[in-house]
Amino acid sequence: MALVNHNVAARLLPCALVLLSVTLNLAITAFSAPTEAEVLLKFKASLGDSVAALSSWDPAKPPCPGGSWAGVLCQDASVWGLKLQNMGLKGKFDMEILKDLPLLRTISIMQNEFEGAFPNVRAISALKSIYFADNKFFGEIKADAFDKMTGLKKIDISHNQLTGSIPTSLTTLPLLTELKLQQNSFTGQIPNFQQDRLTLFNVSANQLDGPIPDKLTKLDATAFMGNDELCGGPMPPCPSPTKVPVGTIILCVLLAVAALASIFVAIGILRRRKEDPVAQNQNVPPASQVHKKGPSVDMDSVEKGVPPAESEPVKNSNQISVRLTFLREDVEKFDLPDLLKASAEILGSGVFGSTFKAAIGASRRVMVVKRFRQMNNVGREEFQEHMRRLGRLRHNNVLPLVAFYYRKEEKLLVTEYIDNANLSVYLHGNRGRGVPSLDWPKRLKIVKGVARGLLYLYNELPSIVAPHGHLKSANVLLNDSWEPLLTDYALSPIVNQDQAHELMIAYRSPEYKQQSRITKKTDVWSLGVLILEVLTGRYPSNTSPKERGNETDLAAWVQSIDRADWKAEVFDKEMAGKKNREDQLIKLLEVALGCCEPDMEKRWEIKEAVERIEKIKE
Ligand SMILES: *[C@@H]1O[C@H](CO)[C@@H](O)[C@H](O)[C@H]1NC(C)=O
Repeated sequence: MALVNHNVAARLLPCALVLLSVTLNLAITAFSAPTEAEVLLKFKASLGDSVAALSSWDPAKPPCPGGSWAGVLCQDASVWGLKLQNMGLKGKFDMEILKDLPLLRTISIMQNEFEGAFPNVRAISALKSIYFADNKFFGEIKADAFDKMTGLKKIDISHNQLTGSIPTSLTTLPLLTELKLQQNSFTGQIPNFQQDRLTLFNVSANQLDGPIPDKLTKLDATAFMGNDELCGGPMPPCPSPTKVPVGTIILCVLLAVAALASIFVAIGILRRRKEDPVAQNQNVPPASQVHKKGPSVDMDSVEKGVPPAESEPVKNSNQISVRLTFLREDVEKFDLPDLLKASAEILGSGVFGSTFKAAIGASRRVMVVKRFRQMNNVGREEFQEHMRRLGRLRHNNVLPLVAFYYRKEEKLLVTEYIDNANLSVYLHGNRGRGVPSLDWPKRLKIVKGVARGLLYLYNELPSIVAPHGHLKSANVLLNDSWEPLLTDYALSPIVNQDQAHELMIAYRSPEYKQQSRITKKTDVWSLGVLILEVLTGRYPSNTSPKERGNETDLAAWVQSIDRADWKAEVFDKEMAGKKNREDQLIKLLEVALGCCEPDMEKRWEIKEAVERIEKIKE
């Protein structure tokens, strides 16, 4: 018997050891991990004095099972939910404390006065529902705030003071069915939600704009009411390309411009190989390289203020310049993010890039922003120096530069908005639409203003060969009193030289065609062409890149007509007020032809050209 007992004891010994070690382990765990009661009491302590409603949280009794602790939802012996609605709670809401409740799946703290930054919800990644509505959380929510919270089904963070973009990590939560974001201050576009079962969605009363994503277009309009400019789906249809946020415009236009630029460059290379064997030795980057530079623009990094990988080193990576450099004291300052947030209307896209207008800042002052890509002829320092030089220009007929933004990949130039169309629109855009054409006095006033502005540029920028360089009717803005303002001037020193001659008017001059050079008289030629355009109402071949190489320019056309027929055939038929003034019109026409003189020796200097123009009378 004793033997048997001994045997049994010997067999039980390992079991006993295992048991002992399990007990020990449990004891150790109990010491290191706080009990659920401890977690909850720590959370309560973090709320300061605002915890009268939690007086039932009594350390003497466990929170679970039993449900004697107010607002604590139990599943057997574990806390699975907190329902602390309308309890007058205040202060920060600390997710880090609660992450020690291993089975916690739902949190409701609606209708309290929690404040501060949006809680770090990812600390409890298994959460199924988050009800934070009606508190005072403020500021931006990080884009990845909900990353990998694959169990999340319901989120209500409405009625807080949240700003910035709707976090993109919400768009891929696989089980999300309810998302309430209304009555905050979210801005920008609604990101592209992917869920099919997102049935309760509400973003009303925010500051969102842009199109409603496809998966949400079936929802009720009240889900979107009270935003700046949402469109599509139940909202008004999105206007064709004009009214979308700047960021989108920029991106679209950039892609288009990059594509165009590479085409131009490719054509340019082919053409130069054909036409000008000497140029083959020039340092022309292969088209592929240019193309690579093109679409590498990372709008994201602009918007977030993060430096793109290739950009020049910055002193402090958190402090990348999203600042515009202002050249004038008399305008309200704003930064790039303001600009990117503003809704913009695209005004046009030319060979250099896009132009759009945006109402910015508290004053909603309307500014024009031009985006340039091919502007790396000089480094940052020189670019800034050049901008400062342009910023000092002051003339009635020169559109002042207000600010600029420099990044290696792109430049933005900001000017005032002139609330009238450009000269090209008046000359060519209104045909047959019943809009009165410009009469002779207006045309003369415009020509004189352009000439004065150009002379001023010559005087102020003596070191630039073609001080305007890109003079054409589309770059002559008209204000309400028909005073012309030159724009896009003095860019030739900063535009990439391998692209300049594909892009700029100065490089369409006879001297560039014949001798591959531009001179101090090249802008005089551009002025002459512009005057011919104003007098004839015809579109000059030089402004359209498609027609480059087309030899029938305006000057040649006028000269092909018998002088005796000029009055009858040359002048714009829609120009009113020219009767009995034809002598003056002809004088101006002759000045224009003098400016267009292909022989550089015979062509006038700017000074003489302007003097002759000033002598013309109404
Ligand atoms: C969205 O929220 C607003 C404001 O709370 C409410 O008026 C509207 O009825 C809601 N719409 C939907 C579809 O939930």
